[in-house]
Amino acid sequence: MVAFKSKMVESISLPSRDRRERNLEAAGYNVFNLDADEVFIDLLTDSGTGAMSDAQWAALIRGDESYAGSRSFDRLESAVADVMGFSHVIPAHQGRGAENVLYGTLLSSGDVVPNNTHFDTTRAHVANQGGEPVDCPVEVAFDPDADDPFKGNTSLARLREVVDDVGTERVPLIVQTITNNSTAGQPVSVENTRRVREFADEIDATFVVDACRFAENAAFVSRREAEFVGEDVGAIAREQLSYADAVVMSGKKDGLVNAGGFVATDDPDLYERCKERAILYEGFPTYGGMAGRDIAAMAVGLREAVEESYVFDRIDAVDEFGSMLADVGVPVYEPVGGHAVYLDAGTALSHLPCEVFPGQAFVCELYREGGVRGVELGSFAFPDTDRPELVRLAVPRRTYHREHFEHVAETAERVLEKRERVSGLEITSEPEIAELRHFTAGLEPI
Ligand code: F0G
Repeated sequence: MVAFKSKMVESISLPSRDRRERNLEAAGYNVFNLDADEVFIDLLTDSGTGAMSDAQWAALIRGDESYAGSRSFDRLESAVADVMGFSHVIPAHQGRGAENVLYGTLLSSGDVVPNNTHFDTTRAHVANQGGEPVDCPVEVAFDPDADDPFKGNTSLARLREVVDDVGTERVPLIVQTITNNSTAGQPVSVENTRRVREFADEIDATFVVDACRFAENAAFVSRREAEFVGEDVGAIAREQLSYADAVVMSGKKDGLVNAGGFVATDDPDLYERCKERAILYEGFPTYGGMAGRDIAAMAVGLREAVEESYVFDRIDAVDEFGSMLADVGVPVYEPVGGHAVYLDAGTALSHLPCEVFPGQAFVCELYREGGVRGVELGSFAFPDTDRPELVRLAVPRRTYHREHFEHVAETAERVLEKRERVSGLEITSEPEIAELRHFTAGLEPI
């Protein structure tokens, strides 16, 4: 049941087919280069693209722009304490700013960092500190049809193997990403978080949770994990986060804002060390690269994110979108994750080998056929990793409605109808940092 109504609207329009063709060519077949005005339904990301509530807009106007000790920061501190259970918070301009502060503080060259699956900025930040990011997903994660409630979990066996291989002294940090964005937005069980915590204690490592989508994760736990079925989403979120020494957060996801993020911890020493780096890269620790008004809106957003009327509607809407796509024959990663529907383009375009990027070809066709923008998360985004050729259709929070999703499903159906005629792509230009190439590389059809 949708628990909100519109108070302000924004016009969107579908450019003509000719125009879409020209736009695609001019963008070098990389949809990151498209003008947003030329996109009809924008499912590039769920990050910072959602609609704020009237309570958040009201908070925004009352934001306090003081350089130090602002009232907005106090509000954030209490929201983080109430919702997430941490007493210290350092704002950052967005999630990757928080990653830079925390990972720059905790890591040294030669360290190995296991994570259930690294998101691309996390991978890049670990590498940027001279560290080696290692993914430890459960095996079932890469089976798009396996019916398992927590395909986002960390594999304890893989974790142990990595540590046995390199030695405990090279693993000062273990990360767990909830929900697991790079594994189709799949949730992580509280029991799995507990077991990773125990393992971190065993090897004396710091345990960090990437909490970008912690509320959506808790909603899944409340539906799927026997111990917590029917329990309050807010209580589940606090329990799951209680196992972490620190969290990195992008407010652009479950903070329900357009900009912002933070590091939070209960550890006073870690807090002090992070503060120094935060001042260098982000700003004074009571604003950390954010405007006071944005901090105020994020404080309200965090509380709204764990309201059950909001968060169950959120995961149900994404699930319904997944069913619409599956109904027209699109191979959809099952079960559908929290913030996006992931399509298996390797199966949909099975005539294209991974070297010619079937996922990116599918993304281009969705734009060509219906002005829809998604993102490739297969061989193009993650070179040299053994992943399925996924395409992500991320759902901005509180933004699109059933008719929009129907348009996307109809568009995907048209792509499937012409699948034999879809050609692969080759890269014509790429940046130096391979981990981030999908943002800027240029391509052309083969
Ligand atoms: N961690 C995870 C799991 C993320 O999904 C993201 C961002 C970040 C960290 C970085 O946060 O964007 O605020 O700097 N994910 C967005 C996405 C960009 O589209 O999935 P950020």
